[in-house]
Amino acid sequence: MHGMLTRMVDDSMAMWDREAATFDDAPDHGLRDPAVRRAWSELLLPLVGGPRRRVADLGCGTGTLSALLADEGGHVVHGVDISPEMIERARAKTEHVVPRPVFTVADASDPPLRSRAFDVVLCRHVLWAMPDRDSALRRWVDLLAPGGALILIEGRWSTGAGMTAAECTDLVRSLRDTVELRMLDDPAYWGGTTDDERYIVYSPAAPGNVPDVAGVGGRR
Ligand SMILES: C[S@@+](CC[C@H](N)C(=O)[O-])C[C@H]1O[C@@H](n2cnc3c(N)ncnc32)[C@H](O)[C@@H]1O
Repeated sequence: MHGMLTRMVDDSMAMWDREAATFDDAPDHGLRDPAVRRAWSELLLPLVGGPRRRVADLGCGTGTLSALLADEGGHVVHGVDISPEMIERARAKTEHVVPRPVFTVADASDPPLRSRAFDVVLCRHVLWAMPDRDSALRRWVDLLAPGGALILIEGRWSTGAGMTAAECTDLVRSLRDTVELRMLDDPAYWGGTTDDERYIVYSPAAPGNVPDVAGVGGRR
């Protein structure tokens, strides 16, 4: 079993290494369009809170969200990704960002990060691909300091890949008391219309900590 999981991680690394050069061409990946960038900024910054939150960005890819949170929110970000090619681009992208995020090449299902050391664990489009979602999520929750929040952005795409909002919220609810779901069907996030299931799951430490989730980022 261990050998099989190692092979799956190796295959995944090779696949994502191949994707890295063109990854940022997708509007929601590179956030090159100012309107798309603003949509993500307005969505995430109020949830991360602040100031200077310690954020783990797991499966950070080319580091676009890490860069956004550090640059626009002043947050202290540690990105982790299995793909050296992705991490190389993340480091280059954040060369002049202050505070400069730190990036590590590692398996996000058991990241080499300290338990209870993060105010926010952020993970966009990664949980669905974990071979053992339950154990990965347990580890991610373990990274949270008291009062910390989990932010998952996931989807069940028209390709058939991904996980449904119901699957994702059920999994988070098995570990956390407060779980808020919001569908992300506004084209502003994706640079165009979508016809599949895209969403954010926000889990703060306690219900009292939910900032205006009815209109997260002012969009509905
Ligand atoms: C769809 S991309 C999302 C990237 C980034 N989170 C974003 O939203 O722009 C998925 C990322 O997860 C990474 N990944 C996949 N499996 C991983 C694993 N086991 N550990 C760490 N990273 C992984 C891939 O290398 C890729 O960068």
